[in-house]
Formats: sequence, structure tokens, C-alpha cells
Amino acid sequence: MANISEDIKLEIKYRNDIESVISQYVNLKRRGKNLVGLCPFHNEKTPSFTVYPENGSYYCFGCGQGGDVITFVSQIEKLDYVEAVKLLADRSGITIPESGYDNSMQELKTRILDINRETARFYYSYLMSPGGKWALDYLHGRGLTDATIKRFGLGAAPDNWDMLIKHLKSKGFSIPDMLQANVISQSSRGSYFDRFRNRVMFPIFNLRGNVIAFSGRARPDDPKATGKYVNTQDTPVYKKSQHLFALNFAKNDCADRIILVEGNMDVISLHQAGFPNTVAALGTAFGAEQVKLLSRYTKEVVITMDADEAGQKAVLRTINELKDSGMSIRVLVIPDGKDPDEYIRKNGAAKFKMLLDKTVSDIEYKLLVSSKNIDVSSDNGRLQYLKKAAENLATVRDRLTVDLYAGRLAEKYGVSKTALLAQIEDLKKKNVRVEQKKEFDRIVTPRYESTDINPDRRRFPKAAKAEESLIAILLSHPDLYASVKERIKAEDMLTALNKRVYAAICSILDSGHPVVDITLLGEDFSPAEFGYIVSLQNGVLAEKNAKTVLNDCVKVILEENMAANTANDKDLSLDDWAAKMQQIAKTKKGE
Ligand code: UTP
Ligand code: MN
Repeated sequence: MANISEDIKLEIKYRNDIESVISQYVNLKRRGKNLVGLCPFHNEKTPSFTVYPENGSYYCFGCGQGGDVITFVSQIEKLDYVEAVKLLADRSGITIPESGYDNSMQELKTRILDINRETARFYYSYLMSPGGKWALDYLHGRGLTDATIKRFGLGAAPDNWDMLIKHLKSKGFSIPDMLQANVISQSSRGSYFDRFRNRVMFPIFNLRGNVIAFSGRARPDDPKATGKYVNTQDTPVYKKSQHLFALNFAKNDCADRIILVEGNMDVISLHQAGFPNTVAALGTAFGAEQVKLLSRYTKEVVITMDADEAGQKAVLRTINELKDSGMSIRVLVIPDGKDPDEYIRKNGAAKFKMLLDKTVSDIEYKLLVSSKNIDVSSDNGRLQYLKKAAENLATVRDRLTVDLYAGRLAEKYGVSKTALLAQIEDLKKKNVRVEQKKEFDRIVTPRYESTDINPDRRRFPKAAKAEESLIAILLSHPDLYASVKERIKAEDMLTALNKRVYAAICSILDSGHPVVDITLLGEDFSPAEFGYIVSLQNGVLAEKNAKTVLNDCVKVILEENMAANTANDKDLSLDDWAAKMQQIAKTKKGE
């Protein structure tokens, strides 16, 4: 468990103004004393993410995540607590003494990155050696230049079971670390072997340029190959759902738009052809975390996928994933050739550029696709298609866009534009009602419930409420602590989470801090738990009556505690009950 000194945590908090740090990631608008914006941790259309500059905290009413500037950075940059502290320390010129924390996880990550770098070098040299000639020929055959091969750090894995293991050993790396890096595997009989064999290797870099994983493509016509691609599984330095291939190269060229393709080879081809703003998901379906990542770098995503059936499904899935992201969505349909890489090789960069200037919007794409399997030469087919089209257009907010497409469709399929627009309006109204209902449900029953993180709340709702108020009051009126500390101990609380929170608060105040700075709690609570604490801290209202409310809370907790204990006694066997009484007697005598 990491252990950073309190002084350092507090210094970091005060040197990194939460408002300016969060503004780098979230577009914040002032609302009274606080700021609000769209939550970067879940998809939403109305802002429920709130920043409280007053006490340096944030809380999302939608998903319940919350914390301080350190936990924010750790969440958004996918760093552990210690790494987030380091990053903020670096940014604000604070040096952390090496003895200040236990960095075993950090050290493991560093060793994995070292192994990955050495492994990438090994694959590159093998590619350039006689043994790798087939792979170099293959890459040249696919039109890649030596400069491109070097820039992307491509390589080749030998057709051999332990050449990499031997190499890494000679460099001083250990087998357990190689396993953690997932560059080697262990057989069921216990022996170790190279994970990638006889493959063209594509290293995957993070945004700082470290090699975090590999993707290996089978040598064409290798009869032994198991799967066309073998990829690194998730490791301490790599979660595939959180990365995009080549974003490290694309990130400086994609402010206006980014091209999203399916394959590594497509990315590399497009970069070489002068489209450095191209990325790909890493052998997984494109998901929410990647959407968030993209939205930090670009305004527009151009989806470019194979023109086949599977590609079409992927486009629709990707549109759906992107639709609430705020980025504009375009689709590039490739008329012939299987994928962007093949198209560019056949037709050249200039032709691809023309396609890029003729992308269709997500709506146009959906309209195109829904006409595909319908025979629009019959009245029935036309009606069926127009209904589908109306459904599509009913999801479009912009009135001019709807008007434009309705006009075109009406003309093309011989119906009146007025009738079509009326149909669309009806569907829109229905959608609005559905939306409103959803919004209402969201507000009335937030997705996040304190019972999720504090399940005992269900059993002891009354006590839990009192505990929560007591904690909330102490967070903003630490001066009242003296009046409760003798009367309520952490053990008296009935719910597990409140027990932990109260114990932590007591320990902070007991050790002489005048106030409970939530930064002193950060490391010991999950983001959801921390969010809960922040929401208690910022939700406290009873300014004037704090003392009275506090006394009521103490009373309720003690009563509920008693009730729970007697209730439990009824369920005890006679022997257990006797033992318990004996225990209580002992405690009273102070044994
Ligand atoms: P493709 O089969 O389209 O591969 O898969 P490709 O990149 O175009 O390769 P070439 O042109 O045939 O050499 C698209 C992407 O899906 C992932 C890879 O990331 C690949 O680049 N994939 C595919 C896997 O992860 N595993 C597989 O077995 C296949
Ligand atoms: Mn391909």
C-alpha cells in the first residue's frame, strides 16, 4: 500500500488549483460558487459533474464519482494514486523524497516498460537480420518504406520458442516480470515460451511514447499460426479498451478531425500516405473509454471501415458509441477494395483525399444503409423504407437538416414533404417523452445509490441517515468534534462504510489537524466511496443548527445501535448469548 506523507499530499493539493487542472479536461461553466460540466467519467448530455473550488473537491451527481485534484488526475489519466501524486508534483515543481512512499507497483510497471522496450528492439533487429528477411520483404511488398517501418518500430518475431526469453534473460530481466509483461507464456506443464512466434510485430505505444503492448500478425501461409493476430493481453501497463493504436503519432495532427479505421495496417498505410491523423481500436470493439479519449483530442471522427457486411455493422456500432460524445460523426464509404489500406495502394493518396472530402454524415449513412435491403421499386418497399428513414430523421435535432433530407426523400419516393415531416414530428415527440422519462428517472433515482457502496444502509436506513448527517457536519464543523468523540466511537456506527469514514475522520482530528482535509482520506477510499464523502461534505446544509442536529444524530445512532443489538440477541443461542454477556462485562472492566 502506498504511503505518501500528509504534508506532501496537502502541498500538492494547494499547488495544483483544482479548477485549472480539471479545466484542462472538462469544459466547466460557473454556477454560483461552483463550476459544472459534462462528466468525463460517464456519458451524459446534461452536466452533473460539479467542482467545488472552496474545498478543492469534485462530485458527479450522475455516477457518484468524486474526490480531490489527486484522485481526479489518477482517474482521468488512468494512473494509480502514487503516480498521480508524482505527476502533479512534477507539474508544480515539488520533489518527493524517495522514502516518501512504497513504489513497488510503480517499479513493476517500470520493469514491464523496460522489457517491452527491449522486446521491441529485439523484434526490430530480428526484422533487419537474415532471419527476418521474409517479414521485411512482406512489409515492403505491402508498400511500406523503411522510414515508416522505423517510425512505427515494426519488427519480426522469430519462428522459435525461446529466443526472446534467452535475450531478455541476458539483459537481466526475470521470468515473472516477462510473464507480467505478457511477452512470454507458461505451458500447462510449467515451461515458458515466447508468446509471439513467426509473426510481423507491431508495437503499441502510449501517449508518452513508451511501448505498452504488441500486436503480432501471422506470417502469411504459416501452417502453424494460431489466429491471424495475437495481441498482448491486459497487463499492469496496458488496458486495451483504454488505448488507440497510433494515437501517440496522431495526437498532434487531429484537432479538426481524426480518421478511425479497423486495422493496424490501415493506420500505417494512411500515415505513410500523408494522413497522420489516423488511429484504430486495438483488436476490440470500439468502446466508451476510447470515445472519451478521442473527444479530448478532436472535434470530428471520420469512421472508415471495410465496405463489407461486417464493416457496415461495425460502422453502425461505432456511430452508436459516438452519438452522445459531442464530436461530429462522418462516415467514409470506400467504394471498391476491401479496406483503406488496399484502396490507397490501388488508387493512391489523392483519390483517398477526394473520398475524405465526400464523407457522409451519420444520418446520411443510416439512410443509405436502411435502403440497402429493401426493394424500393414496390409501393410496399417504398413505404417500409420511408418509415425507417423517418425513424432515423426523428433522432436528428437540427431542424434544417431534417427539412433538407425530408425534402430529398419526398421527392425521390413520391410522397408529400408535409406528410413526411408530420410523421417525423410525431416520432420526435414520442422520443422526447421517452427522453424526458429517462431524465426524470435519472434525477429521481440517480444511477449511483449510497446503498451500492454501503450495503448495510438497506438494513439500517435510520442509523445510516444519522451517521451520514453526523459525518457531514463534522466535515464542515470540525470544532464540534470534541462534543461527540467521547459519545460515539467508530464501532458504534452500524454501517461498514460510515464506520470506516468516521474512523478516518477521528484519526485525522485526533492527530491534531484543525480541519478534515479530504485529501488526507484519498488513498484509502475508492472513487465511488470518495465521491460519497465529497457529496456529504458539500451537501451539508444545517449551518445554524449544526450542534442540535449533531446531538440528534448521536442519539439516533446510539438508540439504533441498542435496538440492533437486542434484535440480534433474540437470534443468539443461549450459549452464544452468555458468551456475549461475559465479553461485555470484560470490556466494561477494561480487560
Ligand atoms: P483485419 O483482418 O481486417 O486485418 O483485422 P488487417 O489489419 O486488415 O490485416 P491485413 O491487411 O489482412 O494484413 C482488423 C484488425 O482487427 C484486429 C487487428 O487489430 C486487426 O488489425 N484483429 C483481427 C485481431 O485482433 N485479431 C484477429 O484475429 C483479427
Ligand atoms: Mn487489411
